[in-house]
Amino acid sequence: MTLPIAVCVSGRGTNLQALIDAIAQGRLDARIVFVAASRKSTPALDRAIAAGIPCRAFPPAANGGREAAQTLMAAAIVSEGAELVVLAGYDRILCDAFFERLGGVPVINIHPSLLPAFGRLNGVAVHEAVLAAGVTETGATVHRARAGTVDEGEILLQRAVAVHAGDTVETLAARVLAVEHEILVEAVARFASRSAVAG
Ligand code: GRF
Repeated sequence: MTLPIAVCVSGRGTNLQALIDAIAQGRLDARIVFVAASRKSTPALDRAIAAGIPCRAFPPAANGGREAAQTLMAAAIVSEGAELVVLAGYDRILCDAFFERLGGVPVINIHPSLLPAFGRLNGVAVHEAVLAAGVTETGATVHRARAGTVDEGEILLQRAVAVHAGDTVETLAARVLAVEHEILVEAVARFASRSAVAG
């Protein structure tokens, strides 16, 4: 059975686009039933609109604060019938009420490092820290997201990316991002094949 998923976004939405493309190309047996954004006017929301996917922004200021906004977001995700929530560049810490309102719907997150290394950092800060540390390898991780934790939770898929001499934050980020797109699609495909077996 095609897996119904929801995707939570905040920014440019290239990971969302990777999922949209994989589904359109028949590489992923899933359907994005809802895209939820933490703020209005993000390129990610434009991508959802362009793909004809129902979407909505839940900015805290307009929705009674962070907890109320995230509870509304979870309620919308549940009512759209999502069986998996993908955090794809969602930039806010999720409150316990979000997970409670979701019930048992699993939540996964993509992070641009080999967790637990360089967790709790965002965006370019991750790659800056990698370069500053002088490590020769970084990568990307898909992990389960759990209430009360950030960049923790069972690791589902990781792929390494070599750090090259002369890498800048931009060159490294671009190589890691390409790997993020691959492993995010693969991780969702695992849930989809499990749901096919179950159902
Ligand atoms: C990605 O690097 C992801 O790992 C991190 O935020 C970034 C989002 O990129 N959590 P995009 O919005 O999917 O292009």
